[in-house]
Amino acid sequence: MRTQIVAGNWKMNCDLDESQHLLNALKQKDFSKSNAEVIVAPPFTNLYAAHKTLENSSIKISSQNINENDKGAYTGEISPSMLKSVGVEYAIIGHSERRAIYEESDDLLAKKVTAALKHDLKVMFCIGEDLEKRKADKHFEVVEEQLKNGLFHIDASEMKDVVIAYEPVWAIGTGETASPEQAQEIHEHIRKILAKQYSQEIADQTSILYGGSVKPNNAKEIFAKKDVDGGLIGGASLDADSFAEIVMSF
Ligand code: G3P
Repeated sequence: MRTQIVAGNWKMNCDLDESQHLLNALKQKDFSKSNAEVIVAPPFTNLYAAHKTLENSSIKISSQNINENDKGAYTGEISPSMLKSVGVEYAIIGHSERRAIYEESDDLLAKKVTAALKHDLKVMFCIGEDLEKRKADKHFEVVEEQLKNGLFHIDASEMKDVVIAYEPVWAIGTGETASPEQAQEIHEHIRKILAKQYSQEIADQTSILYGGSVKPNNAKEIFAKKDVDGGLIGGASLDADSFAEIVMSF
């Protein structure tokens, strides 16, 4: 049985006061009736506040990025061990905004995956096609290439610490969500790719999340699909009530 997960990617939002307000509101929520593991990914500046606020709750913490090195002359960067020291358990790697805006290459992402796993951080590996590729019906090829070039250098034994997040770029922040059928179709394809690369057992055990305009009014239908194991939530994760409604969709 694979883990169902709802993760909130806050992106570049919330100063310390706003983060503390949101964290306090989330801490008050009763997620015990949901089957989902709950993760929040605040900006780097608020990870310690998240760690202290949530330390007695079931809510786990993720970073939104990670450096592939662990110490040294990398001005402005954050290392895996620094993240571990503030209670971070996951690292989001390969988000489409990191790939597109900051030009993070497949090779760099592969190094980040290796570094995260080496330091006992779980990986939330993001993949997804842009609108041009979707219109060209190339979305299957895109996600396969992203997996092969950024993730498939790791051993089968390491896949237990990897979650995959499929986020069609054309659905991120646009309000245009992939239909449940579109999500199921590509999640099923991703699972087949995992089975071919590793084994059916590993494919069946790997959580594959959907991200891209998930809201309280569409989460239940998307999450009900056989190969959708939860969501990576952007905008809706900045409101505690909306995020809680999505968590309770399981
Ligand atoms: O990482 C999650 C994010 O890319 C989805 O954003 O605002 O469409 O839920 P949003």
